[in-house]
Amino acid sequence: MAKRVLITSALPYINGVKHLGNLIGSLLPADVYARHLRLKGVETAFICGTDEHGTPAEIGAMEEGKSIEAYCLEKHELQASIYRAFDISFDFFGRSSSDENIAMTQAIFSRIDENGFVYEKSISQFYSLDDRRFLPDRYVVGTCPKCGFSSARGDQCDGCGNLLDPIELIAPRSALSGSTNLELRQTKHLFLKLEALTPDIAAFINEHPEWSPTVLGIARKWLSEGLRDRSITRDLSWGVPVNKPGFEGKVFYVWFDAPIAYISMTKEWCKLQGDADGWTRWWKDVNDVELVQFMAKDNVPFHTVFWPAMMKATGDTWVFAETIKGFNWLTYEGGKFSTSRRRGVFTDQAIALYPSDYWRYSLLASAPESDDSDFDFGTFANHVNKDLADVLGNFVNRVHGLIAKHFPEGLPPGFTPDPSLEKQVQEKVSGFLSSLDALKFRAAIQIMRSLWVLGNEYITGAQPWSIVKADRNAAANILKNCLFLQNVFSYCASPVMPSMAEHINAHPGAGDRWSYDDMFAIDWLKGTVSLPQPAVLVAKISDEEVADLQLRFAGQMVEA
Ligand code: 2FM
Ligand code: ZN
Repeated sequence: MAKRVLITSALPYINGVKHLGNLIGSLLPADVYARHLRLKGVETAFICGTDEHGTPAEIGAMEEGKSIEAYCLEKHELQASIYRAFDISFDFFGRSSSDENIAMTQAIFSRIDENGFVYEKSISQFYSLDDRRFLPDRYVVGTCPKCGFSSARGDQCDGCGNLLDPIELIAPRSALSGSTNLELRQTKHLFLKLEALTPDIAAFINEHPEWSPTVLGIARKWLSEGLRDRSITRDLSWGVPVNKPGFEGKVFYVWFDAPIAYISMTKEWCKLQGDADGWTRWWKDVNDVELVQFMAKDNVPFHTVFWPAMMKATGDTWVFAETIKGFNWLTYEGGKFSTSRRRGVFTDQAIALYPSDYWRYSLLASAPESDDSDFDFGTFANHVNKDLADVLGNFVNRVHGLIAKHFPEGLPPGFTPDPSLEKQVQEKVSGFLSSLDALKFRAAIQIMRSLWVLGNEYITGAQPWSIVKADRNAAANILKNCLFLQNVFSYCASPVMPSMAEHINAHPGAGDRWSYDDMFAIDWLKGTVSLPQPAVLVAKISDEEVADLQLRFAGQMVEA
């Protein structure tokens, strides 16, 4: 029996709308994989939600003059509605600030503490005299000691990706007020004994030599540099309260509670279905569940080292990731996308411009899988015009047009599949499916496109428009072979472009089942087949439109 598959996508920070890089860096490929598994008939749970604690939320709320609670609720709903518009088929999209996650985080902390993997230590931390508060993590900015980037955050440098301690920053200043009037003060925090957990983490990583070079490279680099104990509490008021005497008024570090939210969100989802204990089927049944986690590469250390270490420290049984799919960066017209600097195309802007499927196809076609890749409007327009309109759209519309013209009453009974066509299609489809099984999205898209090309070659070679003059049945049979192809296209498109897939599906009633098992079905072609759904409309993007978009988004960058 196939295992159940639990899919997670890194939880997007709550602070505002995400850009296309965030979409292709985790959410979209996770969705394609979830849809793919469902079409295979695998029991799947696809869990995600907003990451609401930590400094991004507090800073965002402050900038908008809102209470943190109101800010988080608003932004959660905004993000959820955008992902719906992109057809991201979460089984559950939750919030890390939920009561469920507070309880789960505190319970997991208690287990770690009971097992002796936590200790207290006083550390010196920046205190801002002007802001009258401690400045943890992102509240301090300054110059990166490793690469010289001048706006490095206290926890991680956006210039080189290295994790930092705020006190390492050169010329530190407050991210809240810009004040440089900072002094180091003592404050008591809890630390996770990461060093002591090294053997567990090494064993976990060594169990997975099949992980991609990017993921393994990052995980092994962390291990070889030696795991350092890390503080898991912060002097903030927004977050999961630390449930330990002496730590009143402090909260857990956002990276402590965020990954636990994968579990508590699963729990909320199961509860909604009336099964309060159902979550243990996903997180405790180690032999029956495969956990597949999607994320951008900056999240890899947390998912290969920090979080697994926490879970090992509980001493309890948990499902650990079988696969960690880490993505490289998507750049925007040669530079970085940046949320804080509003650089690039944001998901709300994108969906207002073109249908979701155009973005899904184009982003997946150049997914930053093994290397960084670049988004530019010229390539996007090519994907839409050349692939979707000229190849897929053209095939479907030719078939539709020919049936409408020559067989308005429907194609007559009888069907003989073309064996050579069938063979070629089956080979390509098996390559497509195994690429998706292997999470090779670019390869899958390439094969899918080659199927569309094959369709055009077939119809061009078979010439039903001239055969129809002499032999109507032969012409009808060619068109039925075309509908067979179109049916295959719709199943393959289904995980990638769900709306388009439904639109081009010619097989009556397929929408209720929607399983790969029906991809090669031919029984429906044996009787009379009436005219399928209306033509596909892929609106082409003109050169002028591309130039306008480039200008418009360049303008946004300059303003920022
Ligand atoms: O980098 C980020 O966007 C984080 N919010 C990801 C969190 S993933 C998790 F919760 F483990
Ligand atoms: Zn740096």
